[in-house]
Amino acid sequence: MNVADSEVVVSILKETGFKQTDDINDAGLILINTCSIRENAEQRIWSKLKSIRHLKKKKKDLVVGLIGCMAERLKEKILETENLVDMVVGPDAYRELPLLVAEAESGHKAVNVLLSREETYADISPVRMDKNGVSSFVSVMRGCNNMCAYCVVPYVRGAERSRDPQSIMREVGELFESGYREVTLLGQNVDSFKWTYDGETTCFHDLLEKVAHVSPLLRVRFSTSHPKDISDELLKTIARYDNICKHIHLPAQSGSTRILKLMNREYSLEWYMDRVKAIRKILPECAISTDLIAGFCTETDEDHKLTLSLMEWAGFDFAYMFKYSERPGTKAARKLKDDVPENIKTIRLNEIISLQNKLSAKSKKLDVGKVFEVLIEDRSRRTGDNLSGRTSQNKVVVFPEEGHRKGEYVNVLIDKCTSATLIGKII
Ligand code: 5AD
Ligand code: SF4
Repeated sequence: MNVADSEVVVSILKETGFKQTDDINDAGLILINTCSIRENAEQRIWSKLKSIRHLKKKKKDLVVGLIGCMAERLKEKILETENLVDMVVGPDAYRELPLLVAEAESGHKAVNVLLSREETYADISPVRMDKNGVSSFVSVMRGCNNMCAYCVVPYVRGAERSRDPQSIMREVGELFESGYREVTLLGQNVDSFKWTYDGETTCFHDLLEKVAHVSPLLRVRFSTSHPKDISDELLKTIARYDNICKHIHLPAQSGSTRILKLMNREYSLEWYMDRVKAIRKILPECAISTDLIAGFCTETDEDHKLTLSLMEWAGFDFAYMFKYSERPGTKAARKLKDDVPENIKTIRLNEIISLQNKLSAKSKKLDVGKVFEVLIEDRSRRTGDNLSGRTSQNKVVVFPEEGHRKGEYVNVLIDKCTSATLIGKII
């Protein structure tokens, strides 16, 4: 999300004559895009700020801006405690950046952290910052209305709003024309995408279908789905199109219905399992990845074991795993005690990680001997002579070049794997 937002920011600034530099020492303006999701994300920003202090001392007219969710959350603290920050700009105020930079340049602190009910930056063509030119993010909605008890997103990114499908289609079309072969449609909860115009409503599965029609050569991915909302209709849409990737990111968070209730996730363990069964039935080739939180308020050993057994049962192909981190202002921070000791959180997280390592390795081993269509994305970072790309299931594959180039599709026979990568040759 933040990568996509930074691309919007660069576009807005370039329109008004700013240029990008790869060398921070050359910059007259430094913007740091920030995340508030967990405390350690914020800690990293405080360290980053310290690391640029010397630049500010060297160059008196350097403007430093903190943008994104942390700006929204900590406006006062940032301005009071960090006299090196000149600008604080929240995620819905990026159109104001040129004005705010001018204000900061004239010696005033520039602030805009207003959240909007409408802003989707629909008309702005993001300046792509990825280097591969093959795969890109397309933001389709902003904000979130879900109010999971642990989560700061609804407070820092505001209410949910969908982007005009016409502008999404224009952006996807332009990406394809300029050589891109994969788009990932992004939203905090893509299943609630909804756009009504002239009495006609576009839901997420309609949007996905429209994007899939741009070209059979364009791969379509999306993230993130919410287990309470993911419908059979969406799964059937994915099944109908070869170019809609067979990978679903479906954050479980916990395997305990009691904890899920406290988290305000609005589904039970049984409901989550039913959705996984539906995916397996309608999309037998589909990979499933997830997010898991260890040590949420009141979590017992039994609750934790239920998470482990869900992981085992679902056989997740990949997972993002976190220790619960209390975020000020959230429902959990207001109503529940962060009562799982840090050392227990660490033990539980480590158990989750080591189980997932086994499951990820197993999922890769099952692919050995099979042939996959791979979209070539780049040279392999480790072995420069090899190419790397991904399968529809989002697994990384490395293979010898044999005259092929990025942006092409090739069939690769997998002959071995490491814990993170499939290794094969083009057939
Ligand atoms: N503590 C730990 N993990 C969190 N996430 C969101 N908020 C928190 C928090 N307070 C995780 C969830 C979510 C992912 C994006 O980040 O697992 O799905
Ligand atoms: Fe946060 Fe829940 Fe919204 Fe995801 S769905 S952004 S976890 S409130």
